[in-house]
Amino acid sequence: MKAAVTAHRDYTIAKIDDRVYSAFLEHLGRAIYTGIYEPDHPSADKNGMRADVADLVRDLNIPYVRYPGGNFVSAYNWEDGVGPREERPVRLDLAWHTSDSNAVGVHEFSDWCDTVNTKMMLAINLGSRGLDEARNFVEYVNGPVGSYWGDLRKKNGRAEPFDVRLWCLGNEMDGPWQVGHKTADEYGRLANETAKALRAFDKSLELVVCGSSNSDMKTYPEWERIVLEHTYDSVDHISLHMYFANRAKNTANYLALNHKLDTYISTVESTINLVKANKRSKRDVFISFDEWNVWYHSNAQDRAILDGNAGWPHAPRLLEDIYNFEDVLQVGCILNTFIRKSNVVKIACIAQLVNVIAPIMTDPAGAAWRQTIYYPYYFASIYGRGTALQLAVNCPGYDADVADNVPFVDVSGVHDAEGGTVTFFAVNRHQTEALDMEVSLQGFAAPSVIDHQVMTHSMLEAVNTAADQNNVAPKKGTGAKIEDGAVKVKLPPLSYQMIRVKVG
Ligand code: AHR
Repeated sequence: MKAAVTAHRDYTIAKIDDRVYSAFLEHLGRAIYTGIYEPDHPSADKNGMRADVADLVRDLNIPYVRYPGGNFVSAYNWEDGVGPREERPVRLDLAWHTSDSNAVGVHEFSDWCDTVNTKMMLAINLGSRGLDEARNFVEYVNGPVGSYWGDLRKKNGRAEPFDVRLWCLGNEMDGPWQVGHKTADEYGRLANETAKALRAFDKSLELVVCGSSNSDMKTYPEWERIVLEHTYDSVDHISLHMYFANRAKNTANYLALNHKLDTYISTVESTINLVKANKRSKRDVFISFDEWNVWYHSNAQDRAILDGNAGWPHAPRLLEDIYNFEDVLQVGCILNTFIRKSNVVKIACIAQLVNVIAPIMTDPAGAAWRQTIYYPYYFASIYGRGTALQLAVNCPGYDADVADNVPFVDVSGVHDAEGGTVTFFAVNRHQTEALDMEVSLQGFAAPSVIDHQVMTHSMLEAVNTAADQNNVAPKKGTGAKIEDGAVKVKLPPLSYQMIRVKVG
C-alpha cells in the first residue's frame, strides 16, 4: 500500500506556537506528592523535589505547566499553600475525595518550574470562589512590594513578583461534577467580570476562559458561543479538553479518534468566528487545548477512592494509567492534529505530567521512568517547532465509528527555516500492511535524511515498568532515503515514525 504526500515550502498552515507542547500538573493523587515532590527520596534536592523526575521533565523542554488544577482548583484556597509549611492546613479535596497537606504551593511550584526550565500557567478558582479571591491571588503572584499582597509574598520569602503571564479563569465550569458548576450565562458573566478586574490590574495578562470539557457535553457548542458572547473582548483563549479511550478494544476506531478532535477544534474555531462577526470585532481569540491525553486504563481501580469508600487518603494512587504501545500511536495522532491546527490552537497541555495519566511514572522511594507515550510527546516537543506545512496526502482509508475514509497514514510536517530542517511525524494505522510513504519535497534544496526514529512492537499491550523501563522505546530507523527529491520510507503496520530531513 502506498501513501503519496506532497510538501511545499510555501504551502504552510501557521507558525506553531511552542506552547502547544505544554503540560499540566494537578494536586491529584501522586502528581505532586511522591511525583515531583518527595523530600525523603534519595534524589531529593534542597527543596524536597525529586531530581530524577526533574531530569526526565527537563528533557521534554516544556514551555508551560498548568497548575494546580483541574477539578481540584474549583475548591482550592490558594492562601493554604503559602506561608510557613508547619502552619499550612490539611484540607479535604472535594474533587478527588482525598486530603492535601499543602506542603507544595505556588512558591514551591515556581522554584520547581525554574529547575526544569518551564513557566507557570496558573488556574484560578471560579467554582467555590469568585472575583475577589481571583484578584487577590493575581496581586499576590504578580503585584509590587509595597502593596498588601506584594508585601505578604515578600514576607513569605519572595520579594520579586513571579510575573505569571497566563491565567485560566476556572476549570471545566460546564461540568456538573465541578464544584461550583455554572450555566454558560452564569459562568460567562463571572468570567468576564473577573477578566475585567484582572486587566485593570495588568492589561497585558493572557487570559483563558473555559470552553467545553469534551465534545460529548450536552451544552457543547452552545456553551462556547454563550461564554464568548460574554467574554470575547476580555479573553485571549478559550480552553478545550478531551481524553481518549479504547474501552471497546477496537484499535481501528481508537486510532481514528483524532478525527473527532479535528472536528471539535474546527467547530470551536467556527464558533469563535461567529461571535467575532456578531461583535464586529477585530481581535482574535484562540484555543488553549489545556487538557488532552489517553485516560481509561485506571478507571475501574479508581472507583473506591472516588466514591468515597477509602476515607480521605493523602496522595493515593489515582488515575495511574499504565500506557501501552497502542497509546503511542494515539498520542502521535493527537500531536499531529495540534500541528495541523496550529492556526488556531496556540496552547496545549498534555494531562498530566507525572504519575497521574502521565508520560512519567515514579515509585515512592524508588525509580522514575518513561511511559510509552513519553516518546511521541518528546519528539514533537523537541523537533516539532517551526512552521506547520499543509501537506497534500493521498492514501487509502477505512471507515471508523467517528469518520469515514480515515487515511491509513496520519502525518504532519514541520519546517524549521532557521535550523534548515523539515520533520515529518507519521503513524501507520493499518494493522497488517506496511505503507510505502513517499513525500515529494517541493521548494526545498539538497534534502538529506539526518534522523529517523521508529516505534513498533509485536504487542499493542506492551508497557514500560520500573523493572523493564525500555520495553517500548524508539529505535533508529535505517530505511528512510531521498530519491528524486522525495523522502521514501516504509512504515511498518501500526508504527510511529519521525523522519528529519536537512534542507537548503
Ligand atoms: O486531568 C484530570 C481531570 O480531568 C482534571 O482535573 C479535570 O479538569 C478533567 O476532568
